[in-house]
This record gives sequence, C-alpha cells and structure tokens, in this order.
Amino acid sequence: MLVRRRSWRPFIIFTLLFLYSVYGDELQPLLKFKSAFENSNAANVDVFRSWDVGAKPVCNFTGIKCNSNGLVSEIDLTGRKLAGTDLPFDAICSLPSLQKIALGNNSLHGAVADNSLKNCTRLQYLDLGANSFTGKAPDLSSLRELSYLNLSATGFSGTFPWKSLENLTNLAFLSLGDNPFDPGPFPTEFLKLDKLYWLYLSNCSITGKFPTDIGNLSLLENLELSDNDLSGEIPESIGNLENLWQLEIYNNSLTGKLPNGFGNLTNLKNFDASHNMLEGDLSELRFLTKLASLQLFENQFVGEVPEEFGEFQNLVSLSLYTNKLTGELPQKLGSWSGMSYIDVSENFLTGPIPPGMCKNNKMTKILLLQNNFTGGIPESYANCESLNRLRVSQNSLSGIVPVGIWGLPNIQHIDLSSNRFEGPVTMDIGKAKSLAQLLLVDNRFSGELPDEISEASLLDSIQLSSNQFSGKIPEAIGKLKRLSTIYLDENQFSGSIPNSLGSCVSISQINLAHNSFTEKIPGSLGSLSNLNLLNLSDNQLSGEIPASLSSLKLSLLDLSNNRLIGRIPELLSIGAFKASFTGNPGLCGGQNMENVRLCSSSSTNSGNSGWIRTLISCLIAGTLVLLVSLACILLVKIRKTDDHKHPLKQSSWNMKLFHVLSFTEKDIIDAIKSENLIGKGGSGNVYKVVLNDGKELAVKHIWSTTESGDRKIYRSSAAMLKRGKSRSPQYDAEVATLSSVRHVNVVKLYCSITSEDSNLLVYEYLPNGSLWDRLHTCKKIDMGWCLRYEIAVGAAKGLEYLHHGCDRAVIHRDVKSSNILLDENWKPRIADFGLAKMGQVGGDWTHVIAGTLGYIAPEYAYTYKINEKSDVYSFGVVLMELVTGRRPVEAEFGENKDIVKWVQSKIKRKESLVDLVDSSISEADLREDASKVLRIAIHCTTDIPALRPSMRMVVQMLEEAEPCMLTTITVTKDGENGHEGFRC
Ligand SMILES: *[C@@H]1O[C@H](CO)[C@@H](O)[C@H](O)[C@H]1NC(C)=O
Ligand SMILES: *[C@@H]1O[C@H](CO)[C@@H](O)[C@H](O)[C@H]1NC(C)=O
Repeated sequence: MLVRRRSWRPFIIFTLLFLYSVYGDELQPLLKFKSAFENSNAANVDVFRSWDVGAKPVCNFTGIKCNSNGLVSEIDLTGRKLAGTDLPFDAICSLPSLQKIALGNNSLHGAVADNSLKNCTRLQYLDLGANSFTGKAPDLSSLRELSYLNLSATGFSGTFPWKSLENLTNLAFLSLGDNPFDPGPFPTEFLKLDKLYWLYLSNCSITGKFPTDIGNLSLLENLELSDNDLSGEIPESIGNLENLWQLEIYNNSLTGKLPNGFGNLTNLKNFDASHNMLEGDLSELRFLTKLASLQLFENQFVGEVPEEFGEFQNLVSLSLYTNKLTGELPQKLGSWSGMSYIDVSENFLTGPIPPGMCKNNKMTKILLLQNNFTGGIPESYANCESLNRLRVSQNSLSGIVPVGIWGLPNIQHIDLSSNRFEGPVTMDIGKAKSLAQLLLVDNRFSGELPDEISEASLLDSIQLSSNQFSGKIPEAIGKLKRLSTIYLDENQFSGSIPNSLGSCVSISQINLAHNSFTEKIPGSLGSLSNLNLLNLSDNQLSGEIPASLSSLKLSLLDLSNNRLIGRIPELLSIGAFKASFTGNPGLCGGQNMENVRLCSSSSTNSGNSGWIRTLISCLIAGTLVLLVSLACILLVKIRKTDDHKHPLKQSSWNMKLFHVLSFTEKDIIDAIKSENLIGKGGSGNVYKVVLNDGKELAVKHIWSTTESGDRKIYRSSAAMLKRGKSRSPQYDAEVATLSSVRHVNVVKLYCSITSEDSNLLVYEYLPNGSLWDRLHTCKKIDMGWCLRYEIAVGAAKGLEYLHHGCDRAVIHRDVKSSNILLDENWKPRIADFGLAKMGQVGGDWTHVIAGTLGYIAPEYAYTYKINEKSDVYSFGVVLMELVTGRRPVEAEFGENKDIVKWVQSKIKRKESLVDLVDSSISEADLREDASKVLRIAIHCTTDIPALRPSMRMVVQMLEEAEPCMLTTITVTKDGENGHEGFRC
C-alpha cells in the first residue's frame, strides 16, 4: 500500500501543477467576488477579514472549503448578514472544482446576469434563497450536476426560466416559492425530474390545473404548492407519492374530492388543504395514522370525521372549521396523542364532546363553535391546566360546567354562549389569572356572581346576558382595571349598581338592561372616559340622573323604563337621546324628548349649568355622531345626481354600517377630490371630510390595483384576480377586520361604501396625525418621555386586543409608526388593516411577504408560515423609534442595516442602552425609564419568533417598566407652521 501510494505522488504533483497552469490562481476570482460586498457592513468586514491577498491559502478563508486537490469546492456564507450588490458570479464560476455556492439568508441585492452561472458546470448545490435580488432569475441550464437548488424568497421576478431546469435531472431538492414571478401554469418540465424529494413552489403565482402526472415524482417527501391559483381536482396519481410526509396545498381554488388512492399516503404527517373548494368525505384519510397536523378548514367537505382519527397517536393539531361535516366526533379523539389544538367550528357535528382531548395535558385550544354538540363539558377538562381557549358557543350543550373549568390557570377565553348550561359560576374563578373573556350569554346559568371574580385581574369582557343570574354585582368589581365590556342584561340581578363600577377605567360598554337594579345611578360612571354605550333600561333605578353623565361621549344611552325623577341634564336633553328616557314618569326634559314631560322653565339648576356649558363642545360632537347615523342609512337609498364634478362614477351603492354613526352621501362623495387629500397610504388615498356641522371624518378610497407605494407586496397577481377585480384584497381585509373590532386603541370604522368601481371606508378622523409624522417629519413635536410611554402602552394594548381579544386573532402584518394614529388627546389608535389577516387562533398563518422595509420580521424571508409574533417584531421596531427618536432605516446605520441591527451592534459593543435614548429626553431618570422600554423592544425583535413575547406579555412588561404618572399631556409644538393642510 505504502509503496503504491508513493508511486502516485509525482503524478498528483504533476496534476496540481497542470491544473494551476490551466486555471491559474484561485485567489483572484475570490477577491473579485469579495469586492462586490460593501465595506461599510460590519458583518462583511467580519467575514472577509480572512480573505486577504497572500495571507494564507484560499482554503483557509472563512466560508471556503477545498477538495483533496486543494481546489476550492465550496463557498458557504449562509446567514452571515452580508450585504452586497451585483455579485460577479461569473468570477467564482471560473473556479474549476466549485460544487457548492450557499449565500442564502443575507441581504444581497441587485441583478444576477442571465449567463453569469453558465460556467458553474460542476455545481451540485446552489442556495441564493432569502435575499433581495431584483430582475429575473438567471439561466440554470448548464448546471447539469445540480442536485440542490434553493431560490425561494430571492426577490427574482418576471418569468421564471422553467425550461432551463428541464435537463437538470439530478435535482433532488428544489425550492422556488415566495417569489413574485409572472403568473403561469404549473411547469410540467418538473415532471421529468424524478429524483426530486423536495418541491417547494408555494406563493409564486402558479395558475391552472394541478398537474395530473404529479405521481411521476415518486420520491417526493415534501410537496408545497400553497398560496397559488391552482384549480381543478387533486389528481389520482398523487396516491403514488408514498414517501410524502408533508403536503401543503392551502389557499388555492381546488375542487372535487380527495381522490381514490389518497389513502396510500400513509407516511403523511402534515396535510394542509385549507381554503379551497374541496368536497366529498374524509374517508380516504382513515389510514393516515401518522398524521400530526391536519388542516382542511374552509372547504365543503361532508360526511363524518372518521372514527379512526380517534386512534391516531401523533395527531396534535386538527382544524376542520367551516365545512359541512356531520355526525359525531370520534369519542377517543385526542386520548392517544398529545393533542394541543382542535377547531371544528361551523359544521353540523352532533353528539358529545370527546372526553379524552385533554388527557395528555397538552391541549391549548378547543374550538367547537356553531355545531350541534350535546351533553356537557367533560369532567376531565376541569384539570386541563394547559388550556387557553375553550369556545363551544352556539351548540346544544347542557348541564353544570365542571367547577375546575372556571379557575384553570392558563385559560384566557371561556366562551359557552348560546347553549343550555345551568348552575353557577363558582368562586374558583378567582384562580383564573389569565382569563380575559368570559362569555356566557344566552344560557340558563344562575346564582350570584362571586366576589372572587374581581381577582381574575386580566378580565376584559364579561358577557352574561340572557341568563338567570341574581343577587348584587360584587362591590369588588372595581378592581378590574382592564374590563372594557360588561353585559349583564336580561338576568335577575338586583340591589344597587355599585359605585365602584366607576373605577373600571377601561370600560367602554355597560349593559345592565332588564334586571331589577334599584336605587340611584352612581355618579362615578361619569368619570369613565372611554364609555361608549350605557344601557340601564328596564330596571327600577330611582333618583335623579347624575349630571356627571353629561361628560360622557356616548353613542348609545338608554335609561328608559326606570323610576328616575327630576330634570334630564341639559346636555343629555338632545335629539340623539330623545328616546333614551321614555318610561320614567318622574322625569322632565326639553321639548324634543319623546314621552317625557316638558320641564317648567323655572327649575333650571344654575349651580350645574356653568361647568356643564364648558362641556358643550364635546357633547355636540357626540350628538353629531348620532345624526350622522341616520344619514348613513339614507345613503344606501339615495342615488348620486351630479356626476361630472368628481372622479367617482355613480352606480348603485352598497353600504355597510358598523357603528351608531353616519353622514349623507353627498358629504362623502363630494369630498373625494384632490383638495381634500391628506395622505397616501399603502392601500389607498385618504381624504378629510368636514361635515357642515364641523364633525371631521377620514375617508379612504381604496385602490383597486396592486399599486403599493413604498411597500413590498409580493402577492401574486393570480391571487388578486381570484378575489375579483373591483374590490382589492386590501379593502376586504380592512372591512373584515375593522367591522368586527371594538377597542379604544383601534381606529373606528364607521361604515363602508362600495359601488362597482369605488371602495370607500369612512373612519373617525384623528387630528394629530401619525406617530411617524410626529417623530420624524416636519410635523415633529417635542414629545417628552411620558407621552411616548403612553403611546407605547396604548398601541400595545390595541395590538394585544387584536391578537388575543377577538373571536379569531387578527394579525395586522403592517405595524409601523405611520399606522399608529393619534387622537385629540394624543391617545394612539392602530390603523390601516389593508394587509391584515384573520385566521385560526394561535395557528399558523399563510405566507404573503408584506409589510414595510425596516419593520419586516426576518422570518418573512425564510419561512412560509407567519404568526402574531411577526407583528410583535414590528411593534418592537416602533418601540425603538419611540425610545431613540430614530427612523427604522437611516443612512447612518450603514447600508442594509436597520434600527434593530443598529441597536444590536451597540449592545455587542457593550454600549450603554441609556446612551441610545433620544437626546431630546434630558432628565436622567426618564432616560433610565426609556432604556427599560428599549430592553423590551430588543426582546420583541429577537430573530427567533418563538422567543419573542406575546403582545399580552409586552403590555405587562411595559406597565411594569415604571409607568409615568402623568395626568395631563402637554405637547409643545415645534417645527409645525400651523398652516392648515401643510404637508411635508
Ligand atoms: C490553514 O488551515 C490548516 C488546516 O486547518 C492549518 O493547518 C494551517 O495552519 C492554516 N494555515 C494558515 C496560514 O492559517
Ligand atoms: C466561461 O468560460 C469561458 C472559458 O474560460 C470564457 O471564455 C467565458 O467568458 C466564460 N463565460 C462566462 C459567462 O463567464
């Protein structure tokens, strides 16, 4: 052996010399390649420090590997945060033994010339994924040895050169998804690539039929075609793919049944075909015993959930909502597996709830809404400590709720509404330290509300309407500082309304109608500055109406059918509330009050009138709100007369009203003209409308094209077409989201108006503009730390509500300072839901790369499923803006560096966080407080989504970060010239 090897040595040396003479130095191509990377980028400097003339053999360069001949075989610089443009691939393609180029997950941009990879004929592995290239993808046809190709989320657009893949018969791994390619049919060229085990073509504008011969790719283990515009049926040949463990075909327009033979896919673990138009039953899935995640929601499946699912030992997540399923759920469901999530809402399911779903203590979300389940909540659920959400409303469930349910430590949402449950809510509820929503409406619950309810301190909504509860409202209710909604109407509550209700500072809706409450209306309610709805009708309340109620900005007030006496306070004696006092024989009021006797003029209470008058202006605003509502309804009927004055074509209008508010058609339509343009958002122009009575509204005219300003929207145009031409998805998203959302920190949508060619959304007008303007533009104001802190907390609460407080979580997907608007008191509202998605709670989110540069979470670049944590990242960026006063992207940060990386680099260099605080905040203790918030921001912008806090935790952390004790906010205007309509 030894002898033989020696005898080869001269030959090897000769070969090396020969290669050297043929190919020359390998250093030069590498240096040429290096020169395209930017010197200003710290990461580049780090990585390329070793790439130096003559310093060492190129084989020792960072990221370079050589083969046994000492020739460069691999360049792997994956995920190094590198920035560079127009990389000279032709240079490295002259390296004769190069087999691998891996540059994925960096910030590379510029074009890649079509022929620049031509000479990379030895390449086996090419990864350029998750970068920001522009232009078309390069020709790949000469890369005959390629087995691994990842070009997903590269940014390449135009027509993809599918043909150039045709002869790359060694390809085993192919990932081209998440690119804004031109729409086109499924590239049948692929069907020859029979070594493929991985095919990722999600979200890249594929149209037409699901390829019939997909079964040719018999080695496939992962097939992802989601977020395209595929139609037609799933072909039978798919049954050949016996190695398949993941099949993702959600968000297409697929029809027909799961084909015969689908049941052969016995290795399938993850199957997601949700949001298609599939029909037929689920019987083909009976033998897929390895299923871990099955997502078929929003289809038209019929028949029963197969009994066999009850035996599946790996089933963790089952989502079948909005189908037409019937029969009973398998009673053993979840008892074998660590099931953590089930949503079978909106079907026609019957029978009992499977008792073993919590057996392995992994269950977090049980959603069975809108079916016809019977029986009770299984006793075993009382120990389900992992449970976050239990939502079983609109079924035929009955019996007594197991006591432990009320006090589950992690439960956030109990929704048992519209069933036939009975018995009490027990004192265990004091242990429900995570509970935010308690929805028991329309059941047969009875007994008193326990005092302990006040210990469930995160309670946001208590809705007990239409039950048989009795006794008093616990005095301790005042401890619930987050409570925003309390509905106790149609019960048998009695006693006085506790004065402490006035301490529930967040409350916006109180409905205590149809009970037996007695004594006076507590004056403390007048201090609830967020109160919007107050209904105390049909009780036995007595005494005078407290004058303090005059200061509320109510859109609904109903005190009818009580025993109130005396004079209706002057400011409540208005048209908007004319029916609010009927059925109180002891009351008197002004002329226009319905069924209320006229007061004799001598009894004016001069003691109160002085300060009341000071409130006149805000009350007038409240009144207008109601006047407007009448008009909004009228709008539907009235046809526009003068066509030519403005650009909006007149046709039949369709209006939806979401608040007790409105206006006339003329008011809105006439205002859509350039003089009134106040802004251009990502999804439309915004106009300011001033009604004749002075009330201000903001009207958004949604573009029906894909124009998108400064945003990066990679939504395939195929997907746009699917949604219909006249209404943009942005419009639909906005209406769907805002019409169902009510929160003080979320912008109010009053109504929507659609016609054949116009989509208008009418919002409350927020006079102080956007946080972006107030921080970064010539409308900048000198914001002290306390105001910034208040804005941070308010905006965080708005997002928390969207993520955790709605029926289905809402992911905003474009959180940024320009989408946080400020009202007259500088309170923030989350706005612009053009990109928002509502989805299954806590589930994964389908992936469309969207958002605004500087705010986009890094996972958008590398994963195909996005969740709430991406909003948390963007919110972290907003916090950084508030603390540092800087923009998310600034030249000073260096190219391809944003505020997050800038802050991170400062931390790496052990600079003190306090030094990063905006220099306009000068007080040392406030700088210290601000740096604490910066720490929260850093936590929010962690690269790994799972490590970011939830918005609920963010709110808690912010509140613990030594809140400013400010009562009034004073703002010094600075840099604003006061000129009406002034824009930067
Ligand atoms: C290059 O790397 C080899 C192997 O790791 C090492 O033995 C050698 O010392 C390095 N040369 C230089 C100049 O760093
Ligand atoms: C490929 O290599 C040949 C021979 O060295 C050279 O002439 C040609 O310019 C190269 N092509 C590209 C696109 O780099």
